[in-house]
Amino acid sequence: MKNAFVETSNYRRFTSALTRLDDRGAEEACMVVVDGKPGLGKTATMSRWTTQTGSIYLRAQKGWDYSWFIQEILAELSITNVPNRKRDRFRLVIERLDDLGTSAALEGRPFSLVIDEADLISSKPEVMEGIRGISDLKFLPTILVGMGKLRDHLRRFPQIESRAPNKVEFLPATLDDARDLITGLCQVPVAPGRRMPERMVGRLAPRDPRPRHQGVQHRQGRQDQPFGDLHPAAPRHRGRALAARDAGYP
Ligand SMILES: Nc1ncnc2c1ncn2[C@@H]1O[C@H](COP(=O)(O)OP(=O)(O)O)[C@@H](O)[C@H]1O
Ligand SMILES: [Mg+2]
Repeated sequence: MKNAFVETSNYRRFTSALTRLDDRGAEEACMVVVDGKPGLGKTATMSRWTTQTGSIYLRAQKGWDYSWFIQEILAELSITNVPNRKRDRFRLVIERLDDLGTSAALEGRPFSLVIDEADLISSKPEVMEGIRGISDLKFLPTILVGMGKLRDHLRRFPQIESRAPNKVEFLPATLDDARDLITGLCQVPVAPGRRMPERMVGRLAPRDPRPRHQGVQHRQGRQDQPFGDLHPAAPRHRGRALAARDAGYP
């Protein structure tokens, strides 16, 4: 596998939500919620986005309280001389984010604050209010990334929910995405027209929640999917193609 990022339909829906944010009527509606099951590429997309735009990325931790959150953001902003007073720390964060946002605007680049794994903090009012406070002061686009619980928890914070009319749900790969992912990530050319390797399907869609015996039928049902094997000459095992890694290919 190549270590590359592939622009999938989820990525395109995410970037168009960010574009809509630029054209929003109400300035305070500057939050975007990104959610979807694990493994669908949310973190990979945020990593791509922050690299492209110079945005600030934080990964929430279960134990975050307001002080820990501010400490993390100060570190991410490379502020080493941290003031003692809570108020001064907050002011410094706002000033630095404002500077970064202004430079980005001058260069015509979008700038935002990304909080990944936001489910872990979405039931903590002091942290959520802290994020809203930072986002609100300069209408800083803020992206909250999480799974199913995030949307439910946000309903408890109408003042945040009202700022996040833009929601992007990450969905399992479409056939076109799968084709692009195979082309973009495989180190060997893949012939079209043969079934997609099971291991690839597992990477692209959430785990099949059905009981094991039904899952097997489900996988057998994929036999006729129009995708190539990872290696054109991949050996077959009990009637199914092996992924290149299993078959001993590099
Ligand atoms: N668009 C993509 N291009 C390349 N690799 C991807 C892409 N989307 C996801 N992946 C890979 O799939 C795996 C799971 O993605 P991840 O971003 O961690 O999912 P999530 O954050 O939604 O749980 C990672 O190894 C990631 O590198
Ligand atoms: Mg993730």
